[in-house]
Amino acid sequence: MKPLRKAIFPVAGLGTRFLPATKAMPKEMLPVVDRPLIQYVVDEARQAGIEHFIFVTGRNKNIIEDHFDRQFELELTLNERGRREELSTLSRDLPGPGTTSFTRQQSPLGLGHAVWCARELVGNEPFALLLPDVLVQHPRGCLAQMIDAARELDGASNIIAVEEAPKDRVSSYGVVGVGASKGKAFAITQMVEKPKPADAPSNLIITGRYILQPEIFGLLAKQERGAGGEIQLTDAMLALQRTQSFYGLKFEGRTFDCGSKVGFLAANVAYALARDDIAPAFRAEIKKLLGEP
Ligand code: UTP
Repeated sequence: MKPLRKAIFPVAGLGTRFLPATKAMPKEMLPVVDRPLIQYVVDEARQAGIEHFIFVTGRNKNIIEDHFDRQFELELTLNERGRREELSTLSRDLPGPGTTSFTRQQSPLGLGHAVWCARELVGNEPFALLLPDVLVQHPRGCLAQMIDAARELDGASNIIAVEEAPKDRVSSYGVVGVGASKGKAFAITQMVEKPKPADAPSNLIITGRYILQPEIFGLLAKQERGAGGEIQLTDAMLALQRTQSFYGLKFEGRTFDCGSKVGFLAANVAYALARDDIAPAFRAEIKKLLGEP
């Protein structure tokens, strides 16, 4: 496979499950401990070697662009106050000049449409797609594991991160059918969006990280509406599967669906407990809340 240089971050959704928090603030800026969701996902992509970060945004999303820019007044004040640690965090989190691009989706017509909106910025090369409301807690992140797996596959392959889900939950997700193993990955035989538990081909659900070939854009261009009247990425992937191979990777790490309230709260607890500076005091607070001595 050609080297993977670019990643798309779709951030144009309405975040209705988090209203009213997301009335004026993008869901992707909600903090897990002290970093916005989008920062974790950009960090994961940087760690995997991605060089260009493409954000598909919408109205009310300008602060995402500001977040990935320098803030001179703040930096000046922190400098004057000798706050070295905060300053180094700010510069460490920032992708380099000219490595971010922002395009508008204009109407939130679905994930497939958001991806299609990035077509000119991606061009004719494979790309990563990371959903910012899915966090994967693992020292190497999920995308780096996918890139490792991709090295063992043929040129024009598509790879999807999958994880196991209880049978009664699969009907909320895209579910894949499992074929022959190839290295760390396996061939995907079918993809079904939100199946009834009895119709699900497995208990492996699609998890918000993809490596896709640029031919997906031509299929998304047909703008066919699928489930919920939205332009669905899964429909275009199914069409692409007629001419290209799709592989699944069961990655290592713990996933948090931060698009749901419980997943978001669980992520806050898990990431706080993983932080040396916060965990001891936080663990004591949780014990108190749970009524433990
Ligand atoms: P979600 O469906 O989880 O996000 O899409 P949402 O629509 O914002 O949330 P709810 O369901 O109303 O609470 C996953 C990701 O895809 C983006 C979202 O911003 C989110 O990061 N997305 C979704 C778009 O960019 N455009 C769309 O049309 C839909």
